[in-house]
Amino acid sequence: MLILGIESSCDETGLALYCSNNGLIGHVLNSQVELHRLYGGVVPELASRDHIQFILPLLDELLKKTSSTMEDIDAVAYTKGPGLSGALLVGASVAESLAFSLGIPTIPVHHLEGHLLSPFLEENQPQFPFLALLVSGGHSQLIHVKQLGDYEIIGDTLDDAAGEAFDKSAQLLGLGYPGGAALSKLAQQGNEKFSLPRPLVNSDDLNFSFSGLKTAVLNLVKKQSPLSDADKADIAFSFQESITDVLVSKSLKALEQRNLSTLVISGGVGANQQLRQKLKEASIKFNFHLYFPSLEFCTDNGAMIAIAGYMRNQLSKKTDYEFSVRPRWKLNELN
Ligand code: KG4
Ligand code: ZN
Repeated sequence: MLILGIESSCDETGLALYCSNNGLIGHVLNSQVELHRLYGGVVPELASRDHIQFILPLLDELLKKTSSTMEDIDAVAYTKGPGLSGALLVGASVAESLAFSLGIPTIPVHHLEGHLLSPFLEENQPQFPFLALLVSGGHSQLIHVKQLGDYEIIGDTLDDAAGEAFDKSAQLLGLGYPGGAALSKLAQQGNEKFSLPRPLVNSDDLNFSFSGLKTAVLNLVKKQSPLSDADKADIAFSFQESITDVLVSKSLKALEQRNLSTLVISGGVGANQQLRQKLKEASIKFNFHLYFPSLEFCTDNGAMIAIAGYMRNQLSKKTDYEFSVRPRWKLNELN
């Protein structure tokens, strides 16, 4: 069975082909980062127009790259939500019309379920049940994944998501948008000169709050004015230490509370090397299994939608070619 996956929920157009026998056979991506950089964030209308422009040429490229034809495709999985409505509609309408013309089913996919299941693209795969730490630009959640399609959100952000905190702090340091990766790179040159808070690290619950951390960065930036390059690196270092400490500490607390021995990391912030390193050390110390998607599948991509579609084939397949998108959609509504 060959599944075409289409992701278009935000600022990446991603397409991939996943084969039930051979796994992922190819994927292509167009990132809109350069397009939105000028505005310091994603401009929804520009995002939709860019998806329209690139989605079909990307499909051609994918088919060529994998020596496949349209007729080889058995089902089309696409992101139904959450995300930007115009951007979602591009992927949904292309997916449903393509499936209609080929007479094959579609599989609408929840974007966060795509992130959650992305570690299944790797050779070494986790087993259910597990704890997932889903940290992206829009989400910071701890999810008890009981089985496929049965998700309990046990920790959530009260304000800014982890990726959002990285991006906003990066902006304060003049690193542009999106700044997570740039801040992380700069932190390599920094030292623990400044002390920043670890918000909610000792709270009994599993929730996160990162907006105060961003304000602490703002205050430091103002205090150090004029900001030297060394100061910037030191602030980046301290910010990264603080946020990764909180993410690791809450993940350990959740593993213990739920008596789970497997942790899966996903979402864009899962690409952060310091987070990966701290979790690796913790997994050895506290003896739990740890799974990451490869770096290219941490941020938005079509491969995670293709594999989620494959795994969901029995649960969500449809043939009515009707579609609606769900810009707001909680993961546990899938249960
Ligand atoms: O999962 P993703 O591509 O999009 C959403 O669904 O939100 O995540 C994007 C987020 C951005 O906030 C970006 O700054 C962050 O992931 N990010 C990173 C790194 N690479 C991407 N944050 C920290 N360290 C990184 N290396
Ligand atoms: Zn995402």
